[in-house]
Amino acid sequence: MTILGIETSCDETSAAVLQKGRVRSNIISSQLIHRTYGGVVPELASREHERLIVSVVDTAINQANIQKNDLDVIAATAGPGLIGAVMVGLCFAQGLAWSLAKPLVPVNHIEAHIFSGFIQDHPGHEAPGERFISLCVSGGHTMLCLVQEDLAYSVIGRTIDDAAGEAFDKTGKMLGLDYPAGPVIDRLSREGDPAFHDFPRALTSQSRTSKSYRDNFDFSFSGLKTSVLHYINRHDPAFIEQHLSDIAASIQEAITSVLVEKTIAAAKKYSVRAVSIAGGVSANSGLRQKMEKACAQNGLHLCIPKAVYSTDNAAMIATVADLKLSRGLAETNNYDIAPFASFAYK
Ligand code: KG4
Ligand code: ZN
Repeated sequence: MTILGIETSCDETSAAVLQKGRVRSNIISSQLIHRTYGGVVPELASREHERLIVSVVDTAINQANIQKNDLDVIAATAGPGLIGAVMVGLCFAQGLAWSLAKPLVPVNHIEAHIFSGFIQDHPGHEAPGERFISLCVSGGHTMLCLVQEDLAYSVIGRTIDDAAGEAFDKTGKMLGLDYPAGPVIDRLSREGDPAFHDFPRALTSQSRTSKSYRDNFDFSFSGLKTSVLHYINRHDPAFIEQHLSDIAASIQEAITSVLVEKTIAAAKKYSVRAVSIAGGVSANSGLRQKMEKACAQNGLHLCIPKAVYSTDNAAMIATVADLKLSRGLAETNNYDIAPFASFAYK
């Protein structure tokens, strides 16, 4: 089976070819145009996808050393995401699939992140064989899911305000860092002291909220954002500049410790033996180290995608299509698929 995956839900234009379950190419063109604005500008994202989609798909096909006619299936993100951005990739995929008379598989972007730890580009990464807890942390979503062996999943917790990636990006913006600030905070944190300042960790064992809030698996990061803003306003710009790495490390510590605490608590409550982390924030080195340590201490197997598969990419889109097709779970007889902007929590 040879699958072309297409991903255009936000600011990465990406196409990948999967052959017999293995990634043969994975082209990602990240749109730099948004840096000037400190965040993704939806209309510009759609226009950039439109400008790039043909060459990105052609490059993925050429690099995989195949012809378009060798494709068995086209898979594309149908949402959630910026609606105009999703439409560019999905409409392109619809047109390509129809003209080649090949099946089209619509893919949910969040599901693709959830299963991104199982992308096979080398032997050893196999499809999920047992129930696991997935922490999916991106720029737009933060959720904990209980995933069953048959790929069915339920959302057991989610952010009630900002996503974890948003918390990185917005606090970083307050510190004057470039967009996206997540990787910059990650880099600065390596030189900083995570105990420099104690930023709030909402809805955890350390927060003062009521027990019912602390014991569920929801997240909240808006208070952290406010706290960082007050902290910056309270201090001299020279002090902030001088302690930038320490402040970055303290922000990263606050975000990642909440993510790890809730994930381990969920794994215990649902008696699973495995945990996976996915989405752009799973590229964070502090989160990876902390989660590795916590999983080892609790006897949990941890599955983390390679960094290139943490942020948005089309290999994960093709992989979900492959996992579903091999289990008879994908609908393939319909070109008339509507894009969707938001994720309906189950
Ligand atoms: O999954 P993704 O590529 O796009 C969405 O679906 O949103 O995630 C992008 C998010 C951004 O907020 C970005 O700052 C964050 O992932 N991110 C990171 C790191 N790399 C990307 N956050 C913290 N540390 C990183 N190393
Ligand atoms: Zn994403």
